[in-house]
Amino acid sequence: MLDESKFDVDLKLWALRIPCQLCKAATSILNGYLLDKPRIKPITEDPTCQKNRYVILSDRVQSHDLSEISPQKLDELKKLCEIQVIPYSLTLGYSYWSADHVLKQILPPGVEVPSSFETIGQIAHLNIHDELLPYKDVIAKVIYDKNYPRIKTVVNKVGTITNEFRVPKFEILAGESDMVTEVKQYGATFKLDYSLVYWNSRLEHEHIRLVSQFQRGEIICDMFAGIGPFAIPAAQKGCIVYANDLNPDSIRYLKINAEINKVDDCICAFNMDARKFISQLMEAPVCENNAECNVSMLKACEDCSVQENEESRVENTRLGGIICVGLFPLLFVVACSSICYLFCHAVEAEEAPVTVPGNVEGAQDSNRNIHTSVAATKRPSDCCLEGIISAKFRVNAKHVSILNNGFRCIYNNLVIHLACMTKLLFIF
Ligand SMILES: C[S@@+](CC[C@H](N)C(=O)[O-])C[C@H]1O[C@@H](n2cnc3c(N)ncnc32)[C@H](O)[C@@H]1O
Repeated sequence: MLDESKFDVDLKLWALRIPCQLCKAATSILNGYLLDKPRIKPITEDPTCQKNRYVILSDRVQSHDLSEISPQKLDELKKLCEIQVIPYSLTLGYSYWSADHVLKQILPPGVEVPSSFETIGQIAHLNIHDELLPYKDVIAKVIYDKNYPRIKTVVNKVGTITNEFRVPKFEILAGESDMVTEVKQYGATFKLDYSLVYWNSRLEHEHIRLVSQFQRGEIICDMFAGIGPFAIPAAQKGCIVYANDLNPDSIRYLKINAEINKVDDCICAFNMDARKFISQLMEAPVCENNAECNVSMLKACEDCSVQENEESRVENTRLGGIICVGLFPLLFVVACSSICYLFCHAVEAEEAPVTVPGNVEGAQDSNRNIHTSVAATKRPSDCCLEGIISAKFRVNAKHVSILNNGFRCIYNNLVIHLACMTKLLFIF
C-alpha cells in the first residue's frame, strides 16, 4: 500500500577516521562542519578498526580536500592527528522521516496535513476531513508507524455524535482493535473503553480547575460523572462524591477507577437519568434523630453499589436512605460547613456552537452570578453553608439561571430543576 522505499534519500558525504580517544577534541574543532541531522549522531563506528571512529562531516563539505573547512581549523586538526578522509554514504529512509514529512509527500499539495491528533492512552484519535478520507488508511499507517509503541491504535471519528452518552463512533484504521486504555491526569489513573464511554483529554485543565475549588469533607454531586475525571480527584481530596451517569459503561469504569485510585469508599456511583438522580437526592428524608443516623459516611458509601440501568429497580428510598445516613454524621465531621457542589460540566469547546457566547468565559460569568445569588438566597440564620454550581454547558448563554430559591441547569436540552438544592443545603 505504501512504498516505503519512495522516501529514501541517499547522501554522499565525507567522514574523517579519528582515533577513539581524540574524537571529542576533533568534534570540538570541527564544530559547524559536522553532520547535522536530527536523530543521527555524527560519530559512528569504523567498520575496519575498533580503535577508530568515523566523524561524519556535513553535506556542506563536498570536496575530498576539505576546502570548505577553514584552514585554521584544518591546521588545528592536523596537529591533533593524521587526517584520513573517507567517503561515507548515508541513506535516510522512511523510518527516519517525520510523519509530517512523509504525509506531505503523499497527500495532494495544499491540503492540511493531519499529523497531529488527540491521544487517549495508547490510542490516537484522528478527525480526518472529508477531502482526505480517500487517504485515511495511509494517514493512519504513517501515524501508527511514527508513534509506535506509544500509539498502538489509530482511530477516526465517523459522523457526528448523536447518542446521549456523547460517545462518538470510531473506525479503527491501524493497530490493535482493543480500545481499552489508561490515561493519567494529575496523579490519578483512569481506565476506559474509548469506544463505549465519553472521554476528552483536553478537559484536563478544567478538571483540575474545578476540583481545586473543593475542600476536604465537602459533598460533591456529579450528575454527569462519566468515568470520573471530577469524581475521582474530588474523592482523592477527601470529598464524599455522589457520582451519576446514564451510561452503564461509564459507571462500570467509574467504579473500576475508584478502585484503582483507592477511593471506592468515598464514591457512591449511580446509573440513572440525572433528573431521577437529582430528584431522588432531593427526596432524601430529613432525619430528625441524629442517633438513628450515626453511621459513618464512608460506611454508607461502601454499602452503596453501582445501580443497574433499570430505573425501576432503583427505589426512591434507597438514595434517600444513603443521604440520610450520610449527611448527619457529616455534621460532626465538617461542623456545619459542608458545601454541595453541583456540577454539570465538561463539554469540549469544539462542540459548542461557534456563535454561542456560552463558552468557558460565559460559564464563569454564570458561576459568578450564581455565587452572588446563592449568597442572597434566604437561608436559616444558623446555616453557614454555601452553594456553588460550577457549570460549563454546551447550549446557549442561558445555561444557568436562578429559579426561585434554587437552581436550574440546562444540559444538553435536559432541564433540571434544582430548586431543592436549597432544601439540600437546609438538610445540613
Ligand atoms: C460530556 S460527558 C461528560 C462526562 C464527564 N463529566 C467528563 O468530563 O468526562 C456527559 C456525560 O453525561 C452523561 N449523560 C447524558 N445524558 C444524561 C442523563 N440524562 N442523565 C445522566 N447522565 C447523562 C453521558 O453518558 C456522559 O457521560
